[in-house]
Amino acid sequence: RDLPPTTLWGYQGSSPGPTLEAKRGEPFLIEWANALPTHHLLPIDHGIHGAEKDRPDVRTVAHVHGARVGPNDDGWPEDAFAPGHSLLYHYPNAQDAATLWYHDHAMGITRLNIYAGLYGAYLLRDPEEQALALPDGEHELPLILCDRLIARDGQLYYPVSDDPAAPWVSEAYGNATLCNGKLYPFIEVEPRRYRLRLINAANARHYELSLSSRHPFVQIGSDQGLLPAPLERMRVELYPAERADVVVDFSGLDGQTVELRQPSEPLLQFRVRNRGDKNAVSVAMPTALRAVPRIDPASATRERILTVGEMDDANGNAMMMTLGGHHWSDPITEDPLQDSVEIWSLVNLTGDAHPIHLHLVRFQILERRPYDLFAWNERKELKYTGPGQPPPPHEAGWKDTVRADPDMVTRIIVRFEGEPGKYVWHCHLLEHEDNEMMRPFKLL
Ligand code: C2O
Ligand code: CU
Ligand code: CU
Repeated sequence: RDLPPTTLWGYQGSSPGPTLEAKRGEPFLIEWANALPTHHLLPIDHGIHGAEKDRPDVRTVAHVHGARVGPNDDGWPEDAFAPGHSLLYHYPNAQDAATLWYHDHAMGITRLNIYAGLYGAYLLRDPEEQALALPDGEHELPLILCDRLIARDGQLYYPVSDDPAAPWVSEAYGNATLCNGKLYPFIEVEPRRYRLRLINAANARHYELSLSSRHPFVQIGSDQGLLPAPLERMRVELYPAERADVVVDFSGLDGQTVELRQPSEPLLQFRVRNRGDKNAVSVAMPTALRAVPRIDPASATRERILTVGEMDDANGNAMMMTLGGHHWSDPITEDPLQDSVEIWSLVNLTGDAHPIHLHLVRFQILERRPYDLFAWNERKELKYTGPGQPPPPHEAGWKDTVRADPDMVTRIIVRFEGEPGKYVWHCHLLEHEDNEMMRPFKLL
């Protein structure tokens, strides 16, 4: 209570930054100006790409997660720039309506910059979605979740490793959950339907959200836009960078308080109050949303087998995790042809799930299939040990981030639409991303 306010970094003076609202076909030009102080809010640790002597400690570059943009407007990590500089980016907004978000992407320090507060929502709309008459205006809320360690002085604390062999913390978890930058906030809602754009902006935490009223979420969209039909879900699971577009109905709950929970910790209160507004009447939910035509696996011209999290013990550094067995600075190996369809089979060699994200594209999940880790380790042989599991309905829409489960090969199918050039793909667990679990890819 007597503590000074917590210092955060943000965009336009707020964290999360302002919600950017775009319409399909109406491009944006955004000048991202670095007005940060010259000293980092958090200690720069000795992560693999964090503190290199020719690089300023404070640098940033913005990336719109899920946006199909050209290679020079995507937030290439090594294009991060120092305070006093700016970069003008062009966003065509030539893609379907979706819940996107923007955040820092500076090489080696993304985990620190996002942790400090550099993230915000970016909602892309289109006329077909508008025609569905989903709750909008004040009845539509972006809800960005992340966890932070708040120290006794009320300030952000980023965990530091005390293990000399492992100079970085492999997953930073907090003791406090922020909802739109606030700790356990409340919002007054009317007894009607609301549309919530749930975004997991945490460094490492995954969420299993539910409502204390035991009402379901009606999920209408995932990372890259609308699902074919609304889905009732008691729990919504989100790994880092995943999004869920949901409708929640507060009708009949006048005077009550509904909590958003993770899984039992309250994160946010909805206080239902009838303000006598005639708009409080809920409109009906559409039964069909948007077709998601399946990409035919037979149209794929190439399948890439890509390992996730191979330990690199060459230098005795057991904490380095790689994608495809390669480091960030190794020559480019993923080089899809423009407009070609590829299957990427993500072979998880670790004991944990990794949220794998590809820039530029949207994709579909084909299946998760169990495999024999021993055969891989011994002979580099990919031996499946059972049938593949197709994605459940809430994961069967367009995605840009996929949970690669342990003991599984997670197979996705991608049509590489976009402008040729260099982009990145990476684990969105930010500690992993900053420590070699990121690779360039080149669209030819
Ligand atoms: Cu959320 Cu490389 O991005
Ligand atoms: Cu992205
Ligand atoms: Cu990871």
